[in-house]
Amino acid sequence: MKFEDIKIESQAAFMPTYARYDFAPVRGQGATLYDENSKDFIDFTSGIGVNALGYGHPAWVKAVGEQAASLQHISNLYYAPAQTKLAKKLVEASGFAGVFLANSGAEANECAIKLARKYSFDKYGQGRGKIVSLENSFHGRTLSTLKATGQEDFHKYFYPFPQGFAYTPPNDIEALKNALTPDVCALIIEIIQGEGGVLPLDSDFIKAARRLTHERDILLIMDEVQTGLGRTGKLFAWEYIGQKPDVLTAAKGLGNGLPIGACLCSEELKNVLGPGDHGSTFGGNPIASAGATVVLDSLTEEFMADVMAKGQLLGRMLAEIPIVEEVRGMGLMLGIKLKNIKAKDLAAKCLQEGLLVLTAKENLRLLPPLNISREEIETGMQRLKKAAGSI
Ligand SMILES: Cc1ncc(COP(=O)(O)O)c(C=O)c1O
Repeated sequence: MKFEDIKIESQAAFMPTYARYDFAPVRGQGATLYDENSKDFIDFTSGIGVNALGYGHPAWVKAVGEQAASLQHISNLYYAPAQTKLAKKLVEASGFAGVFLANSGAEANECAIKLARKYSFDKYGQGRGKIVSLENSFHGRTLSTLKATGQEDFHKYFYPFPQGFAYTPPNDIEALKNALTPDVCALIIEIIQGEGGVLPLDSDFIKAARRLTHERDILLIMDEVQTGLGRTGKLFAWEYIGQKPDVLTAAKGLGNGLPIGACLCSEELKNVLGPGDHGSTFGGNPIASAGATVVLDSLTEEFMADVMAKGQLLGRMLAEIPIVEEVRGMGLMLGIKLKNIKAKDLAAKCLQEGLLVLTAKENLRLLPPLNISREEIETGMQRLKKAAGSI
């Protein structure tokens, strides 16, 4: 099917919720995508931080294919070996005690919010259900996670929202002390605000958040939907600061393209949500679980050291481009502040040159597959330089 036909049919059928680029890849290999004319595009986006192992990863393709051929879904009424295998590996690798498997980042966060409210209800009764999040955060598109998202722009048309959410500015410890009032049951933070512009939180702020939440018996939820699963060069980004949360949410890179999310919790919280308190028809689907197990198995120390090294390489190459003002982030999660150029304009130029990049607010954002090769990085950077030079 020709691109123009795909575009016309797509626009006719869909609610227009996405401002799509004029691009319809038909296949991928490694960190490279191909259109219907076999033109190649280096992918510095991995489907917004999802395709951790890139395209056509042999072990992932095999595991997913075999699971699809044997048993695709049985619901959560029964035990599913593929799901159990993933859950066991997830809790072992992360050092948490229990996990709930969902389908997305927003769903993982919904679980975290419900878990925090139930923990508080069981211990203190009603009236302690408030969730505090940070300004400029992003936690999802369901009504609760949207409300937890500290960006008013996302809220404007969708009132009324569920009650019990409040915001505090990032990196302001005094404001945080005041925001964690006696009616608060949880604080939710991203270690690096991804959608907000790839802005890492100060480690002093994270340490204060951990100390204050401990002191006040408030749960600390870390939303690692974007930063998790090796993206920053550690299994989870909290490990850099050594401040373990009570609850951690993950999604994106976990499934390498299949929908799956996880809400992990400490031993103390493991039995807070009992039968009937929470659930999902599709959550932890065996095919997605089989794929996610391959992702987890791939995230060895050596693999993640290479993620760090490639992130540093990209950072050095980016710093040499005249339009780059600042490079932020960790591992292969990079945000680039540009001089006098709109990120959206540069992203459009990059596409013309055969490179996919993301934007986050006024920044360029790079989230390439974690196993991107150095050759693909080199080619992608040449294309980025050409695109920057042509604006
Ligand atoms: C930090 C964070 N939390 C939650 C979400 C929502 O994830 P999903 O789109 O899978 O619901 C995102 C998505 O970008 C995210 O970056």
